[in-house]
Amino acid sequence: MPTVILGAGGQLGSQLAALWPEAIPLPRSRCDLGQLETLPGVLDETEPTLLVNCAAYNQVDRAEVEPVAAWQINALAPRALAHYCRERQIPLVHISTDFVFGRDSQRSTPYSETDAPGPLSVYGTTKLAGEHFVLAASEQNLVIRTCGLYGHGGTGNFVRTMLRLARENKSIKVVNDQTCAPTSIRDLAEAIDHLIATRATGLFHFVNSGAITWYEFAREIFSFLKLNVDLSPTTSREFAAPAQRPPYSVLNCDRYHHQTEQAIRDIKSALHEYLTELTTREQH
Ligand SMILES: NC(=O)c1ccc[n+]([C@@H]2O[C@H](COP(=O)([O-])OP(=O)(O)OC[C@H]3O[C@@H](n4cnc5c(N)ncnc54)[C@H](OP(=O)(O)O)[C@@H]3O)[C@@H](O)[C@H]2O)c1
Repeated sequence: MPTVILGAGGQLGSQLAALWPEAIPLPRSRCDLGQLETLPGVLDETEPTLLVNCAAYNQVDRAEVEPVAAWQINALAPRALAHYCRERQIPLVHISTDFVFGRDSQRSTPYSETDAPGPLSVYGTTKLAGEHFVLAASEQNLVIRTCGLYGHGGTGNFVRTMLRLARENKSIKVVNDQTCAPTSIRDLAEAIDHLIATRATGLFHFVNSGAITWYEFAREIFSFLKLNVDLSPTTSREFAAPAQRPPYSVLNCDRYHHQTEQAIRDIKSALHEYLTELTTREQH
């Protein structure tokens, strides 16, 4: 009786598919969350006992000009999945984001699950709506918020972008006024596994431990790899991305720790492991 992974072509979906060889991975080509009317038929063919939704409209800046598309994938699709699961009495695991926070410009301590959200962007708002739909549909459901993901699958991430810019010998400016906790997809996938194994339900935070700005994170990448790069800090105002990001969105993971009794790796250790693996892969 299978676990079904939606959004299986993405970073997290592909990592979970590797962790759970018995699961059925459904990439967008097999299950398009933009086609809500086809979902029950496609899903029934797999006879799921657990659905894990890793699909999302993740283009944070583009969502500002495509709010309907973002709402469709981040809010209406999770709602449809939650209704599907409720009718068949199976649990839904859904992934959300630290971008549900940010409105509190003075915040400097990690947010817990009981803190009131306050998104600044269309992406954050639609993800928050998705959380509410999933949690309102059934007490069996599980929502996990995370942040700044990087791993080997999917089409790209911040670390790979930094390395590409360095290879192109570009001057790199990175914001130094957004503090968060970038997280290894491998650690997140294992955390999801622990939460499911301990029958967790409701809302949980999971990120690697510590706090860092994106500029500091980029500096750590280049310093660990001993790359001489023209890197300098900038501000969100100067960078002027279309979507506003949280100035501080570190997540408190005490609830995860109490539920699973698992330790959480710190940001730099997880990053160093990933960078070591990336460079080893490139040499082969
Ligand atoms: N990435 C981050 O930094 C980050 C941070 C916090 C939270 N999250 C959350 O973590 C989860 C996993 O993120 P990720 O990094 O693995 O994202 P990802 O690599 O961008 O993967 C998302 C997947 O969703 C798929 N998708 C998009 N629209 C779809 C549709 N209409 N139907 C079916 N699938 C669709 C994408 O397919 P295509 O490849 O075909 O587009 C992609 O495979 C998401 O819920 C995201 O919101 C991510």
